[in-house]
Amino acid sequence: MINGKKVLFSGMQATGNLTLGNYLGALRNWVTLSEEYECFYSVVDMHSITVRQDPAELRKRARKLLMIYMAAGLDPEKNCIYYQSHVSGHAELAWILNCFTYMGELSRMTQFKDKSAKHADNINAGLFTYPVLMAADILLYQTDVVPVGVDQKQHLELTRDLAERFNAIYGDVFAVPEPYIAKVGAKIMSLQDPSKKMSKSDENPNGSIYLMDDPDTVARKCKRAVTDSEGVILYRDEQPGVKNLLDIYCACTGRTPQEAVAEFDGQGYGVLKTAVTESVNAILSPLQTRVSELEKEKAYVDSCIKNNAEKAQYFANKTLRKVQKKVGFPERPR
Ligand code: TRP
Repeated sequence: MINGKKVLFSGMQATGNLTLGNYLGALRNWVTLSEEYECFYSVVDMHSITVRQDPAELRKRARKLLMIYMAAGLDPEKNCIYYQSHVSGHAELAWILNCFTYMGELSRMTQFKDKSAKHADNINAGLFTYPVLMAADILLYQTDVVPVGVDQKQHLELTRDLAERFNAIYGDVFAVPEPYIAKVGAKIMSLQDPSKKMSKSDENPNGSIYLMDDPDTVARKCKRAVTDSEGVILYRDEQPGVKNLLDIYCACTGRTPQEAVAEFDGQGYGVLKTAVTESVNAILSPLQTRVSELEKEKAYVDSCIKNNAEKAQYFANKTLRKVQKKVGFPERPR
């Protein structure tokens, strides 16, 4: 608990361009959750270097991601928005937790298997211990809840196991975090292949709407979205492309699928695609405007970065010092 509130931690990587799916499925929920919880939202740049990055590009993207957090409505006075690499406790706790994690546990992680298949030329130890760093992120702040997508659930299970393992040996050191899996309905699929999730790492840029896409690009991508030859607008699994367009429309407008189906009754796919385009642009335009304002407010953004790094450092150190003492490191002379 911090200030009488439960603690929430989540993070995103600044690799690839954030998609509408990331916004509707995660970021927008973060804003809602920020009313109820004491939130830490990190730009997890240390995780990003588990695959080779261009340094200037990583720095640029990380700052952009941080500004997107703010533009999406996360108040940096209330939420701790910071770079993971600015708080050395993440690496320090990760080392200690590494010594409590079994090789077998890490080799079972499906994301490790996927990523090592994809980057066969660079299967580094960081890729292997990625989930331990993630556990450190979470446990460092005595986190109660972690909003994550299903793809991260296994990592969260490991985090809970590590917390319980450590607590069983040393007493109640860590809070054991619960996953917060967002309600269904906000899962947005690729516009080109509605059986796949809309992804920031999709090779086909037409499958994803990126948060920074301009209105014409959004229109073009929606127009090209894969549908079917049924010619009716119904919300059902047999029409995955149309269903996905309706999901996007509903997520952007707050309508229910039933309401949307009634609204488009008797209309063609062209009308649906135009409506989807407009609903998406109505969400993206204000977000993009705010990002470009923040790009100009350099001093303000810098001060948010500094203050929040200090805040994160303060809470991180509280846990870290406790852990260091438990495992037998000497006290620091004052
Ligand atoms: N691994 C997460 C992802 O790629 C990002 C992440 C890092 C994270 N540390 C975290 C998410 C801690 C939640 C909590 O999506």
